[in-house]
Amino acid sequence: MRVGILTGGGDAPGLNPAIKGLVYRGSELGLEVIGLFDGWRSLLNPAPEVLALDRQTVRRWDRDGGTNLGSSRTNPFKQWTETGDSQDRSDEVEENIERLKLDALVVCGGEDTLGVAAVLAQRGVKIVGVPKTIDKDLAGTDYTLGFDTALRNISEVIERSRTPAGSHGWVQIVEVMGRHAGHLALWSGVAGQAHLILIPEHPFRYERVFHLLSVRLGESGLSRGLAQKPRYSVIVVAEGSRAEDGEMVTIDDRHDAFGHVRLGGIGEVLAKRIAAETPYESRAVVLGHPQRGGPPSPIDRIMGMMFGARAAEAVAEGDFGTMVSARGIAPACEFSLVDLSTAQGKINVVDVERYYDIERYHLKGIGM
Ligand code: F6P
Repeated sequence: MRVGILTGGGDAPGLNPAIKGLVYRGSELGLEVIGLFDGWRSLLNPAPEVLALDRQTVRRWDRDGGTNLGSSRTNPFKQWTETGDSQDRSDEVEENIERLKLDALVVCGGEDTLGVAAVLAQRGVKIVGVPKTIDKDLAGTDYTLGFDTALRNISEVIERSRTPAGSHGWVQIVEVMGRHAGHLALWSGVAGQAHLILIPEHPFRYERVFHLLSVRLGESGLSRGLAQKPRYSVIVVAEGSRAEDGEMVTIDDRHDAFGHVRLGGIGEVLAKRIAAETPYESRAVVLGHPQRGGPPSPIDRIMGMMFGARAAEAVAEGDFGTMVSARGIAPACEFSLVDLSTAQGKINVVDVERYYDIERYHLKGIGM
């Protein structure tokens, strides 16, 4: 069988290991794997560029972050014409699949890329999905590629933000990605021992934040003596967080082809309010795309290889219209196949009741 693989949506460490896993296990099962560039965009190109992927080509890809096949947030069902209208070009995707003589596709992506895959699968295109997003918010699976590496990256920055904040006596706000889910913020905040963690699942109150700061730092400003109270605080805020009486903060009001706005800016808003309404100085940093950068962590290498290998088996077995799912704690997960349309279900967010202390704005039960 000739199988095309594409990676769509935001890049994530773990995608290259997944490609390697597909090629390696696929080579044992008689699959010929063809790489397609830049997500769904490749299949809208009348002359798609492809890359034959054999064991030799991908041998070292497990060490690479991002995606060596490139990515895009292309929605074939919603392409803008020159006159500004939107057009459904999904027929071209099917034509290209035929033109390239592909028997099946393996699609690595989050809810948007896999959402396109699910609709095409309903039309008869033979597709197996692989779950990927640093946000870990996809329905139908407990792990999505990229999460663990992003957690590592963010925790490192939180840790490094301590010395400038401590030396200068700041409240350092660290704004992290995650869209409408707080998984990245919560767990990186715990790993980096942030003082407060604000997540989209539980809108915060400014008064409560100010009070918690005063408990840590003292009422009147920062202490000088080393034996006294801490001189700084680190607050991790998820980009999708909002105050009880406020809105989510967005970079601008443009929407992408899947209808998403780009979130960002809540950290700065919070820093300004702290500086204006408390005795403390504050700084905000938006971590941005480097959160997704760098080589995959051991978990993302293992999970990528496993997801890719399971996808190869699904293709060889003819289990199309499915997504590989991992249940349990990575990497010792139970792998199975779920219906591809599961990925379009309600996103998986932090279980506030179980994990989040709504008074202390932190992980429940660790004595912060
Ligand atoms: O979904 C992954 C993610 O990194 C989100 O956490 C973030 O909101 C979004 O992508 C950023 O989008 P873009 O990569 O298009 O700037």
